[in-house]
Amino acid sequence: MTKPIVVLTRRLPDEVERAAAEHFDLRRNVDDRPMTVPELQQALREADGIVCTLGDPLKEALTGGPWRTRILANFGAGTDHIDLETARALGMIVTNTPGALTDATADLAMALILMATRRLGEGEREVRAGEWSGWRPTHLLGNSLQGKTLGIIGFGRIGQATARRARLGFGMNIIYAGRNEVGVPRRSTTTDTTSLALDAKAVGLAELLGKSDVISLHTPATPDTIGMLGAERLRLMKKGSYLINTSRGSVVDETALIEALKSGHLAGAGLDVYTREPSIPAELLALKNVVALPHLGSATIETRTAMGMRAVVNLGAYFEGRPVLDPVSLG
Ligand code: DGY
Repeated sequence: MTKPIVVLTRRLPDEVERAAAEHFDLRRNVDDRPMTVPELQQALREADGIVCTLGDPLKEALTGGPWRTRILANFGAGTDHIDLETARALGMIVTNTPGALTDATADLAMALILMATRRLGEGEREVRAGEWSGWRPTHLLGNSLQGKTLGIIGFGRIGQATARRARLGFGMNIIYAGRNEVGVPRRSTTTDTTSLALDAKAVGLAELLGKSDVISLHTPATPDTIGMLGAERLRLMKKGSYLINTSRGSVVDETALIEALKSGHLAGAGLDVYTREPSIPAELLALKNVVALPHLGSATIETRTAMGMRAVVNLGAYFEGRPVLDPVSLG
């Protein structure tokens, strides 16, 4: 029996590529550089399925057609790089890998909370620059987390997992603005149990902005959330608070964030995502109270392997005529 042709738009962990090669006639992107629109369109013409990922310019590539591809199995949870409406109109199924990256991303959010509030980025930079003059009682003082309030915007899987770490590991009080509050339909059924277990309180967005010592963003980028934290809402944040973003850069207005950090209204930011990755505004990087990571939320070998395997399973299900496990759009 001929195997379905599947294009991988990027290199995936070895175990995933091996598993995919067993089931599909695999076309790999051996250079591992982002595919261009014409290259993606070539893939759409030739492949039955594509394992795509964030950064792939699929919005542009999908226009036109006709395409042979029937399924886009996204490697990752966020699908904001895909025009779901166009995919639907083309009858193309889109799947993602939501459950696989919850813990890794929540771990990274917690790491950024610690890095920002304890000024660990500043400390690391100081040591490497040979500028550390020795221990002193007033050197690089940050803020403790115990008893402080963490505001979670987007209380889905990752938001809840971050809240769990902050509450149970670091004694923070949790408030959250759920997905309905920020215009994203609620999908998680565990919200009520989690809030009860963590003594977490659902509040409106304005209240969350005003009461949180640290805010962590966990919403997908949708028309409702893009630009959600602009100048006005950043002004509503408590003076001296911190912003952590492991979701999507486009949820925050980067220029307004730079202003809020420069003016001292915000004490710091821990960022893993940016509006125009991989480019980051020089002004943002020049701020010493910013910790900047290169989109590492799900970057553990275990997690990236699990994400890839999930994409393979979704493809396998589709090609065998079974329901896919993680439908984002059913075409
Ligand atoms: C996702 O899954 O969308 C993440 O950003 C990848 O880490």
